[in-house]
Amino acid sequence: MNIHTIVTQPFAGQKPGTSGLRKPTQIFQQRNYLENFIQAIFQTLPERDGATLVLGGDGRFYNRPAIQIILKMCAANGLGKVLVGQGGILSTPAASCLIRKYQAIGGIILSASHNPGGPDGDFGVKFNTSNGGPAPEKVTTAIYEFTQIIQSYQILEANDINLDKLGTTQLGMMQVEVMDSVDDYAQLMQELFDFDRLRKLLTNGQFRLCFDAMHAVTGPYAQRILEHTLGAPVGTVIHGVPLEDFGGGHPDPNLVYAHELVEILFQDAGPNFGAASDGDGDRNMILGRNFFVSPSDSLALLTAYAHLVPGYRQGLAGVARSMPTSQAVDRVAKKLGINCYETPTGWKFFGNLLDASKVTLCGEESFGTGSNHVREKDGLWAVLFWLNILAVTEKSVAELVTNHWREYGRNYYSRHDYEGVDSGRANQMIQKLRAKLATLPHQKLGNYTVQYADDFSYQDPIDGSVSEQQGIRIGFTDGSRLIYRLSGTGTQGATVRVYMEQYEPEGNKQGLDAQVALAELIQIADQVAGLRETTGMERPTVIT
Ligand code: G6P
Ligand code: ZN
Repeated sequence: MNIHTIVTQPFAGQKPGTSGLRKPTQIFQQRNYLENFIQAIFQTLPERDGATLVLGGDGRFYNRPAIQIILKMCAANGLGKVLVGQGGILSTPAASCLIRKYQAIGGIILSASHNPGGPDGDFGVKFNTSNGGPAPEKVTTAIYEFTQIIQSYQILEANDINLDKLGTTQLGMMQVEVMDSVDDYAQLMQELFDFDRLRKLLTNGQFRLCFDAMHAVTGPYAQRILEHTLGAPVGTVIHGVPLEDFGGGHPDPNLVYAHELVEILFQDAGPNFGAASDGDGDRNMILGRNFFVSPSDSLALLTAYAHLVPGYRQGLAGVARSMPTSQAVDRVAKKLGINCYETPTGWKFFGNLLDASKVTLCGEESFGTGSNHVREKDGLWAVLFWLNILAVTEKSVAELVTNHWREYGRNYYSRHDYEGVDSGRANQMIQKLRAKLATLPHQKLGNYTVQYADDFSYQDPIDGSVSEQQGIRIGFTDGSRLIYRLSGTGTQGATVRVYMEQYEPEGNKQGLDAQVALAELIQIADQVAGLRETTGMERPTVIT
């Protein structure tokens, strides 16, 4: 066996963000850049000898060469077996499913999620631990620290593995098993949802569904489950072939980037249900005919109707949402008499709660919803969950959501993003806000009175770890909120995110466009932080 020890030097900035290490592809293509980071991951896995690892990615440019490099490094670092998705394809939730099912010590997922791909796009590496979830902060910190002192890495000299052929191959002392990318995941979905009912709905000749895979990883998953297994007509899944550059698109399922789907749904003769997923398959957007479901409302609704779905019929242990996610789900949890946890942005913060069976469902405003079935958010799972509810209630998406508002009240909600802002200026803005937090309580801003103002800090109820400075919160006496944070997933400059929320209990006032209902809060957000001045922009670049 020909194991080489390659001398290397640290690269600055190999610090994983909200979701793994994400950089322009060309940075990853530099000599030793990927290798250094992978070796640092192995360094946090002292028990890797003879163990199994899961490996796959969203199919973006550089996915295949990166997989070949990582496989040879796995073989040189003592792993016993690597499970790879066929063609190098694994969605993030499918990888999480495999880690758990085959008791792997972890998984490496190659993706920059919803960021565009290609030679001029982004690439990324995420590391998940043995519970199937994103590595917690203590692990990502250890990885980062090692990248700053690394001197060498190990790699096996060997031929490339054929990633397209199913089956097991020997690579040095290690086995590589190329697995069907969809099988295990599809089986798990079948255990959770009422497939007979779904099949009836999708083949009744009345109900029409359109799923936009955005030329990203969910294409093969959605085609298999929705079209082949559940019988939806061929063509139900659009943009279903994963492409290295996502067809030049931006695989982020929101109203801006999934505009083609939005146009299909926003017409009177459009399909009954529309959904999209992102680059690596963990996000979802849900649409009805002429109707957008905000991710925060989606979480609230899934919680309210979970008892109709076989996998959740026995009840929910609790629910969790990230801090900037609207408080709509809190009201449902209260009615159900279950706990609702508030965590910082980032799926990794749900991991401990799920592992300790404190929560069953969780979600984020950033188009992520999931449950204890894996340890990642799961786009297609959310779609099947919605379809299951639609099949049982025989109501339309719009009816379900407006009925929900009537029962619980509506949490008007919107997020404004200012992308590509100068990092120095953005940080300064947050610092200034922080400095004036103490002066805000009791102040009257327009028609609103500040009740509290703080920088969100979270103590994990399971391991006691504390995460500070997770977002500036300004809460008003009527329950409305204004939140500011800097994104942890961008690769160029800073992205300022501003989240606005206002509660409306009265049915006859619930039908407004969110931007109209939130107009005054939007103005206050600018007034308090000087958004236009800091960003030099008249309006946000993305509104969701
Ligand atoms: C990824 C993470 C999510 C997070 C989202 C936005 O999708 O998995 O947990 O909510 O990014 O993060 P950001 O820091 O950009 O607001
Ligand atoms: Zn993603």
